[in-house]
Amino acid sequence: MRTHQALAERTLERVLPAAELAPARLHQAMRYAVIGGGKRVRPLLAFAAGALVGAPLERVAMAGAAVELIHAYSLVHDDMPCMDDDTLRRGKPTVHVEYDEATALLVGDALQSLAFHVLAEQPLADDPAVQVEMLRLLAHAAGSRGMAGGQAIDLAAVGRTLDLGELEFMHIHKTGALIRCATLLGALCGRALTEAERSGLDRFARSIGLAFQVVDDLLDAEASTATLGKTAGKDAQANKPTYVTVLGARAAKEWARELRAQADAALVPLGPAAVRLGQLADFIVKREF
Ligand code: IPE
Ligand code: IPE
Ligand code: MG
Ligand code: MG
Ligand code: MG
Repeated sequence: MRTHQALAERTLERVLPAAELAPARLHQAMRYAVIGGGKRVRPLLAFAAGALVGAPLERVAMAGAAVELIHAYSLVHDDMPCMDDDTLRRGKPTVHVEYDEATALLVGDALQSLAFHVLAEQPLADDPAVQVEMLRLLAHAAGSRGMAGGQAIDLAAVGRTLDLGELEFMHIHKTGALIRCATLLGALCGRALTEAERSGLDRFARSIGLAFQVVDDLLDAEASTATLGKTAGKDAQANKPTYVTVLGARAAKEWARELRAQADAALVPLGPAAVRLGQLADFIVKREF
C-alpha cells in the first residue's frame, strides 16, 4: 500500500504545474490542495484493479492520478462557504481559508481540467477506443449524474429527513461514483476482462463506494478532529441527513460490514488476483480517519 501511495504521490507531483509557473498563485494553490495529504484511496483502488489485468504501473498511475485530481477538486469546492463551509482539510486550513474563495473556485476548475488532460495525454490502453471509454467514464462519474449531482442532492437535503433509498441515491452519486470509476479505470489499463470479471469488479466497486461514505458519516459523528484532519461533528452541526441520523450508528456500522461482505462476494469471479482489492475493502470499512 505504501509503495502504491508513494507512486500516486510522485505522479501527482509530476502532473501538477510547477509552483513557479505563471499564474504562480493558482499553481501554488492547486499543489496545496493535492499534494501531501489524503489517503489516496482512489489511486490505490486503481492499482489493485490494474493488478488483475497485468496493467503497466505507469498507466494505472496516470489513470489513478486523474481520478484523484477530480476528488481533490471536489474537496476544495465541498469545503467552500457556499457548500459545507469547512476550515480544516487533511490537517491544514482549507484552500479558501489559506488563499481566498475565488482562488478555491479556480483551483477546482483547473484541477478538473487537468484530470482530463492527464487521462488523454498519453496512451493508457492498447486500444485507443478503450481510452476514450475511460474519458467517458470519468466525465460521467464527475458530472451531474455522478459526484456533482450527488453534491447537489446533499445541499438540497440539509434540514430534511431522507428515507434510506434517497440517502443511498445521494451517497452513491456524491462519493460512490468516483470510487467506482477509479476501480474501473485501473482495470481498463490492462488486458480485457471477461464479462463475468467485469461485472464482479463493478459490483465490488459499487458496494465499496457506498461503504466508503457510510464510514465517512460514522467517522464524522464518532472520530475526533485531530484524527480526521477535518472538523468532526460537522454533519450534525449542519443538519445533514446521514447514515448515522437515518439508521443510527450501530445499524450504520452493520450496514458497512454488510457492504464489505457484498464487495467480497463480488470478487469471487476474479480469483486470487483480487487479493489487494479485498484488502482495500477492509481498509475502507475499518479505517479510523
Ligand atoms: C473524503 O474523502 C470525502 C468523501 C468523498 C467522503 P477521503 O476520505 O478519501 O479524503 P482524503 O482524500 O483521504 O483526504
Ligand atoms: C463529500 O462528502 C463528498 C464529496 C464529493 C467531496 P462530505 O462533505 O461528507 O465530505 P467531507 O466529510 O467534508 O470530507
Ligand atoms: Mg459535503
Ligand atoms: Mg464536507
Ligand atoms: Mg463527511
